[in-house]
Amino acid sequence: MAELHGDERSEYVQAMFDRIAGRYDLINRLISGGQDLKWRRFVVEMAALPPDGSLLDIAAGTGDIAFEALKLAPDAQVVGADFALQMMQVGRRRAPFGRQVAWTGADALQLPYASGSFDAVVSGYLMRNVVDIGQTLGEQRRVLKPGGRIVILDTSPPPKNAFKPLILLHLRYGIPLIGRVIGGKEASDAYRYLPESTAAFKTPRELARLVEAAGFENVRFKSLMFGTMAVHWAVKR
Ligand SMILES: C[S@@+](CC[C@H](N)C(=O)[O-])C[C@H]1O[C@@H](n2cnc3c(N)ncnc32)[C@H](O)[C@@H]1O
Repeated sequence: MAELHGDERSEYVQAMFDRIAGRYDLINRLISGGQDLKWRRFVVEMAALPPDGSLLDIAAGTGDIAFEALKLAPDAQVVGADFALQMMQVGRRRAPFGRQVAWTGADALQLPYASGSFDAVVSGYLMRNVVDIGQTLGEQRRVLKPGGRIVILDTSPPPKNAFKPLILLHLRYGIPLIGRVIGGKEASDAYRYLPESTAAFKTPRELARLVEAAGFENVRFKSLMFGTMAVHWAVKR
């Protein structure tokens, strides 16, 4: 997978998430020890959405972040977009918020929305997968209203600290094992892909610099889970 680029990489990622859609939520809860919903809630808090504001959850998958947004702001207009349609099919069937999200098939590199459409654009575990981070950030900036907020949740390469050996064990063996046991053969490459793509991804500081270079200001980030996860947030200049 690491050797794939451009359209080939996009097609690989899309097919992989379509294949694991049915087991994605359960595997997520297990590999994060149930912590993942807390991180998604933090994403929504950092989006600082006005009560009846508009939010785009790009790479929404099965909708966890979009649903957190509706819990916090029940009158918000929430759009969930993804290029893996099976993931969104699972999300649409999830009660109680599945029918309240406006689901859209979309590629993060070329968003099908007018400029200045949203108060906030959020994403969970998208940036590590895209073929061009600058273009992806540029599109998110374009569809935000001036002063609108971007929030990004993704994994980070494990930093050097006392927990690193344990973290590497979990990444290299724990996660692929959970993926294989719960998701079967179809999921096993997806959960090998997660540690590989995490190790190859930007550090939180590098990602913060890219967010700034894309035309955002007040760029902040918070590292979570011993530095293996980060949330970045910033404002459109
Ligand atoms: C790990 S899942 C995360 C789903 C959800 N955000 C969450 O927090 O559970 C990553 C999602 O990103 C989507 N994705 C990856 N690249 C994309 C792209 N270029 N355009 C749209 N969706 C993309 C995948 O289809 C997948 O549903």
